[in-house]
Amino acid sequence: MKLRPALPLDAPRLAFIEAAQPMSAHWGEKGLAGEIGNASACVWCWEENGAVLGFLSLRLAAGFCEILNLAVLPEACRRGIGFRLLSRALADVRERGGERVTLEVNVNNRAAISLYSKAGLKEIGRREKFYGGKDDALIMGADL
Ligand SMILES: CC(C)(COP(=O)(O)OP(=O)(O)OC[C@H]1O[C@@H](n2cnc3c(N)ncnc32)[C@H](O)[C@@H]1OP(=O)(O)O)[C@@H](O)C(=O)NCCC(=O)NCCS
Repeated sequence: MKLRPALPLDAPRLAFIEAAQPMSAHWGEKGLAGEIGNASACVWCWEENGAVLGFLSLRLAAGFCEILNLAVLPEACRRGIGFRLLSRALADVRERGGERVTLEVNVNNRAAISLYSKAGLKEIGRREKFYGGKDDALIMGADL
């Protein structure tokens, strides 16, 4: 098993994971390929026996990191992959001088909120009816 930066050829596999997880952001293969090739972005993926099981995407600029996408294949959930992706990504951001991390998460997404809380992020705000004009977004953040 391997936690590594995503490569352009991973884009179709990441799109497959995102399509299997309705609560993830849906960028599609083209959007993911663009993100992997973007210098201010960082996309990490978790690979096991040649299969990519999860990924996390963030942007870092002027010391501020924003987690933009995170998904683990449903059959690989609850095995610690999401937490390891997040921990590694935040450690890397810290090493690169990042001082603060923020993200938005659907208020009904218990699994993700619990994961982010476990990693030390706290609720710092709320955007009403942010998702599809219906569900609120929690804004979560932490100093690094
Ligand atoms: C959120 C997600 C990435 C978690 O990935 P995962 O690999 O299953 O997470 P882990 O196994 O590392 O679990 C870490 C912590 O997350 C929380 N968690 C994960 N799944 C959970 C669930 N179904 N219910 C409640 N808490 C959950 C727990 O706090 C867990 O810690 P614990 O194992 O000590 O209880 C995964 O459920 C997913 O892909 N969800 C759909 C996409 C999504 O919501 N992305 C985030 C958008 S903001």
